[in-house]
Amino acid sequence: MTNHNNREIASDLSFDDFDEIINPGPEVTDFEKIIEKAMSRRGFLGGGLAIGASALVLGTTALTPMKAQASNVFDFEPVKTNSLDTITVPKGYSWQVVTQWGDPLWSKSIEFDHKTRGTGESQELSIGDNNDGMSLFTVKGRNILVSNNEYTNRDIIYDNRESKLPETADDIRKGKAAHGVTVVEIEQNDKAWSIVKDSQFNRRITADTPMEITGPARGHALLKTEADPTGTQSLGTWNNCGNGRTPWGTYLACEENFNGYFSSSDENYIPSDALKRYGIKNEDWGYGWATEDQRFDISKNPNEPNRAGYIVEIDPMDPQSTPKKRTALGRFKHENAEVVVNKDGHVVVYMGDDERGEFIYRFVSDEKYVEGGATTDLLNNGKLYVAKFNDDQTGQWLELSPETTGMKSQAEICIYSRQAASAVGATTMDRPEWVASHPQKAEIYCALTNNKNRGKKPNAGGDETPLTGPNPRAANLYGQIVRWRPKNQNHTSDKFSWDLFAMAGNPTVHQDAYAGSKNIDQHNMFNSPDGISFDNNGKLWIQTDGNYSNKDEFAGMGNNQMLIGDTETGEIQRFLVGPKECEVTGITWSEDRRTVFVGIQHPGEKGDSTFPGGEGTAPRSAIVAVTRDDGSVIG
Ligand code: FEO
Ligand code: CA
Ligand code: CA
Ligand code: CA
Repeated sequence: MTNHNNREIASDLSFDDFDEIINPGPEVTDFEKIIEKAMSRRGFLGGGLAIGASALVLGTTALTPMKAQASNVFDFEPVKTNSLDTITVPKGYSWQVVTQWGDPLWSKSIEFDHKTRGTGESQELSIGDNNDGMSLFTVKGRNILVSNNEYTNRDIIYDNRESKLPETADDIRKGKAAHGVTVVEIEQNDKAWSIVKDSQFNRRITADTPMEITGPARGHALLKTEADPTGTQSLGTWNNCGNGRTPWGTYLACEENFNGYFSSSDENYIPSDALKRYGIKNEDWGYGWATEDQRFDISKNPNEPNRAGYIVEIDPMDPQSTPKKRTALGRFKHENAEVVVNKDGHVVVYMGDDERGEFIYRFVSDEKYVEGGATTDLLNNGKLYVAKFNDDQTGQWLELSPETTGMKSQAEICIYSRQAASAVGATTMDRPEWVASHPQKAEIYCALTNNKNRGKKPNAGGDETPLTGPNPRAANLYGQIVRWRPKNQNHTSDKFSWDLFAMAGNPTVHQDAYAGSKNIDQHNMFNSPDGISFDNNGKLWIQTDGNYSNKDEFAGMGNNQMLIGDTETGEIQRFLVGPKECEVTGITWSEDRRTVFVGIQHPGEKGDSTFPGGEGTAPRSAIVAVTRDDGSVIG
C-alpha cells in the first residue's frame, strides 16, 4: 500500500474535536482529518492505523487482527488503466462473450439485425438490453443465468430512427421488451460458454409480464387502478438494477429508476408531493411508453407509479411462475438486495436506495428460514429498518412502523418508504449502490457511488446532507465504500459499528481528501464504485460506473473497471478494464468457481464503441466469461 507522505494519520480526535471539524464554516474544514478519522478510528483496516484507545471506547465487536503489511493474496499482475475499446484482463486470463443484447433465445427468434437493431417481436424472443445484476443458478448440472435488463440507450436501440427516439408503436413494444429480466440456460463445451437455444428454462420477463403484488401493501387503496381494482396484480418490471439471490434458489430483481417511464398527457397536471419524492414528473426520460400504454400516463393513472419501485422475487427454475413484488422490502430506487441468513435463522436483507441523499435499509423476517421448509412468505412478513450512522462510528437501525413514523399503516410505510425513513431521521447517504455481505463473518459493505449534492443541497424530501459520518466530502465526485459490523455478529441487532473501507480519489490531481484514502494510489485509482460482491475467499470485487473521460479530475483512471479488495489489509488491485463508454456491472461465478461472469453494460453509450462485434457493428451490452488459462479457480 502506498502511504502518501503529505497525509499523515491525524491523532485520535475526541468526539468534540471531530464534531467541530465537520460543523465549522467551509473555509476552515479540514477534510483530511475527517477522512483519517472515518478511516482509521476503529482500525478495521489494520496496517499500522491507531486502534488502541478508540478500540476501548468503541469495542463492541472484535477488531480485525492487524497485519504488518499487505498480504500476498493477489496472484495476478494488476492491469493498468486504458481507454481501449476492448476488455483487458491480467496475463494468464482470457475472456469471451457469452450473451449479448438481442441474441436469440429460441430457434424461432430472429437473429440480431445490426442495422435496424431489432423489432418488437425479435426483442421479445431474445436477450434484453443493458444487462446489470445477475446470478447463475446451477441445478442438477444445468446452468441457468438470470440477469436484469436495466434500461435502454435510445441512441443505440433507435439508431434506425432519425430522431433516435421511438417513433412507432412497434418501437415502444421493442423498448418495453428490451427491459426486465432474461433467464437463459448456458452450457460450457471445451471451455467456451454459449446459450442453450430452446431450453425449457429460457424466459423473458418484460415491462408487460403479469406480476403478483404481495406483502403488507397488497390490496392497499394506493395500489388500486382502473385496470386492477384489487391492487394485487400489476404488469411488468423495469429498470432492474442490481440483484439478489435467496438461499432457497430464487432471484431478486430490484426496481431502481422506475420513475423515468411515467409522463402526463395533461401538461397542467400537478404531480403530488408523494410522486415528486420519487422523481415522477409530467415528462418521462424519452422512453415514450405512455404514448402506447396509458398505465404510464400519471394524469390518467396516478396510482400506477405506486406499483413500481419494489423487489421482485422470481423462480428461475419455473418459467410458468408469476413473479412476486415483495412490498415488505419497501419502495424506493432499489439498487440490489443482499440476503443473509442470520445465525438464528431470520432472513435479513440489506438494501440501498440509489439517489443523492437517500438511505440504506434492512429487512428482518418474522419467520426463520429452514432448509427445505416453506419460503413463500419469508419476504412478506417482517420488519423494515433504516440506517442511522453516528459520527462516533456507531450506528443504529431505526424501525419503520406506524408508531415510529406517524404513518397510518405498515402498508403505507411499504409504499412511501422514503417518507417513513425521513420521518425517523435516517442518515442521508452518498447514493447507496450495491450491498455485499462477507461470506465468513458478519461484516457488510455498501458502495456509496458519489454525490455532487453532498453539503450543497437537501434530498428530494428536504432532508439536509451535511458532511457527516460515512459521507464526509462535499460535492463528492469519487465515492467511497462504507462497511459495518452488527453488534455481537448478530444481523438482527439494532446496533452496529462502521468505518470506511476505501475512499476513492485521485492522488495525482489532489493533495487533500479528494486524493482518496491511504489504500488508493496512482496504480489502483478508480471512481464511482457501484457493483460489489464477495467471492468465496472473502475478497471484495468492486465494479465501477463512473467518469471515463480520463481527464482533469479523472485523469489516469481510464475506462470503467473492476478491482479486487482484500478487506483484511485494505489492499486493492485492478483486475479488469472494460471497453469504451461502458459500465462494468453484474458478477456471478460458475459452480466450480473456474469462471467468473462479468457484465459489460452499454458500451458506446455516447456513440464511441463497437464492442464487442468490432467495426461496422452495433455496440451491445454483453455478459462475458473470464477464465484462467490454466483452468484453475478464480475466487
Ligand atoms: Fe442502476 Fe444505481 O445503478
Ligand atoms: Ca448500479
Ligand atoms: Ca451507478
Ligand atoms: Ca449504467
